[in-house]
Amino acid sequence: MTKKSSSSTEIRCESPSHKRPAPFEEFWFGAAYYPEHWDAATRARDPERMAKAGFNLIRLAEFAWALMEPKQGRYDFSIFEETISRLAEQGIKTILCTPTAAPPRWLTRRHPEILRVNADGVPLAHGSRQHACHASSEFRKHSRRITQAMAKHFQGNPYVIGWQTDNEFHCHFAECHCASCQVAFREFLRGKFGDDISALNRAWGSIFWSGTYSDFEDIETPRHAKPTYANPAHLLDYHRYLSWAVTRFQREQVEILRKANAAWWIMHNGFFQHLDYRGEFSRDLDLMGYDSYPMFAYDPVERPSKHALWMDRARAWSGNFIIPEMQSGPGGQGDYFHDHPEPGELRKMTYAAIARGADALQYFRWRTCRFGAEEYWCGILDHDDIPRRRYEEVVQVGAELKRVGPAILGTHVRVDVGIAGADAVVSAAHEALSLGLPSPESTQAVLHKAIYEAGLAGGVVHPADDLSDVKWFFLPHWEVFDPAWVPKLENYVKNGGLLIVGARTATRNLDNNVVAETVPGCLRGLSGITVEEYGKQNAPEVRPLPLKIGKKSVPTSHWYEVLKRDSGTKALATWASRHIAGESAISFRKLGRGGVVYVGTYFTSGLIESLLPELQKISAVQPLWPKVPSTVEVVCRQNAKRRVWFFLNHSGSPANLPTLPSGTELLSGKKTPASACLAAREVFIIQETRSSR
Ligand code: GAL
Ligand code: ZN
Repeated sequence: MTKKSSSSTEIRCESPSHKRPAPFEEFWFGAAYYPEHWDAATRARDPERMAKAGFNLIRLAEFAWALMEPKQGRYDFSIFEETISRLAEQGIKTILCTPTAAPPRWLTRRHPEILRVNADGVPLAHGSRQHACHASSEFRKHSRRITQAMAKHFQGNPYVIGWQTDNEFHCHFAECHCASCQVAFREFLRGKFGDDISALNRAWGSIFWSGTYSDFEDIETPRHAKPTYANPAHLLDYHRYLSWAVTRFQREQVEILRKANAAWWIMHNGFFQHLDYRGEFSRDLDLMGYDSYPMFAYDPVERPSKHALWMDRARAWSGNFIIPEMQSGPGGQGDYFHDHPEPGELRKMTYAAIARGADALQYFRWRTCRFGAEEYWCGILDHDDIPRRRYEEVVQVGAELKRVGPAILGTHVRVDVGIAGADAVVSAAHEALSLGLPSPESTQAVLHKAIYEAGLAGGVVHPADDLSDVKWFFLPHWEVFDPAWVPKLENYVKNGGLLIVGARTATRNLDNNVVAETVPGCLRGLSGITVEEYGKQNAPEVRPLPLKIGKKSVPTSHWYEVLKRDSGTKALATWASRHIAGESAISFRKLGRGGVVYVGTYFTSGLIESLLPELQKISAVQPLWPKVPSTVEVVCRQNAKRRVWFFLNHSGSPANLPTLPSGTELLSGKKTPASACLAAREVFIIQETRSSR
């Protein structure tokens, strides 16, 4: 049994949380493999080398539709059948993918209407991938058919243990404006507004510019080709619709797979735009997957902190995840080619991912292909099939994971400082109407970097998620805010949490309309302030608007707000120039055992640097581990029974660690010394001996 429960419904991702471990009892390790790209002799050699690398799981078939169904209704699974048994002989299991990211030419030729249509009204061409529309009933029919055929064929195969649906929905782009989408968008809106067109008109404020609709049939998807800006409520509901359409598309596949074999686990590799991964999309699955490509961070110095952010974002949606694709060499396509990971970098990136929530991991890809759009996207093996240093590194990781895997499964990543994230509506609402201000994600990245560099245990957490262990929680400029989240945040504060709210939060409602109450709307009571005046800072270089924290003058940018404090709310900072000199800029309200800080401007790295010491005075948060050099990343995974510490040296020189947790260092299998020198690009993974600390 590979799942924790025999009932598929029990282990579905019912309650997504950043603390949810993957439902696995063994650590799955392997690669994405494309046997269809290689001749029979090469295919015959592969499984043994995979086993030598410690692989126990291979992913197959996500782009192989044309091979598996060369003509409509004629199926041929022989290559996969052969591969699965050869892998099984080496003790390696398989997960299959539904191949719907690459519909075959016979299908798009017979049914050109299934091609997605971009915002200019142009149908996408056949010839790459992700060209078919998820709302098309014709395409959905073929998706169900190929899923059913695969499910039936592999139903009783004991070596197939799970599935990936499709491949990276919305990875290249999310929109579609085809004829099917017009119909499906109306269906979605009828459902949302209970078939009441006046409810839609009210929610969209369509009285503006004579936009009133008399019938759902009048409504179209919002295209580019407008004389000017579209209605932000229309745009937001369109983005919700995109998520709804893919969720329905995926559910049809999931239902077929679950019916065929209830023991299979099912995941999808996300996270892309306009898909709500805290919603039904993920709840239909057993867990989410995240494809990790750290070399897209081109600056090697920035790479570790960016990688940490990407992992933390992935975990925020529904908890620990599988990495179905982890970069194993330089990636190249079109006009770019990545750095080659330096010796030790691949192994270090692997552990950095596991540290932050990867509970299973497969490299992309086993061997570099010699043709196609990704003929320079390097895998573990090179084009010439000769195993070199990347393979040797993977072999080393495979052996080490035998010890590391059991220790980390069942644990979650400790988060002391949470930054709000993982909300598709908040992101889409900003995209629909940004006023040229930084997005919630870009501010989240700025905060995350500062927290990472301060050595604090940072993470990304949704405000509706479990905040019980979180000491500080940042809400960076979430214009759209659900009032339903407020009571929970109030409890969080009363129980000792420090909530830090950024300017413009809760200024728009769930329809993307401006709220009627004085800003910050539903957060007014909790924050203990109102905003009396606000404005954009379009040229802070020539018209600076610093604020004063104590005696320190701190430059600000993007935005200013003048705060009016309720009695009992203190000023932590005041504006220091122009017509607002002396007015409150940052406030603090004590509430219960915690408090709320409201920041009347945007979080920039300079502002955060000056703010952190103030927050420390209110509620101290210690670095995760003391006296750690700045190049060493420390992460802690824990549960009620155990604590596992990761120390990752990201630099090319050794790093001194004057103290270490006492326990066993799992990579070496040795008892940890009191202090140690961590070699360049080396890693310690320490399972702590239970202590009272
Ligand atoms: C991923 C995708 C793979 C491959 C890889 C490298 O996003 O899932 O199929 O394209 O990128 O480009
Ligand atoms: Zn469409």
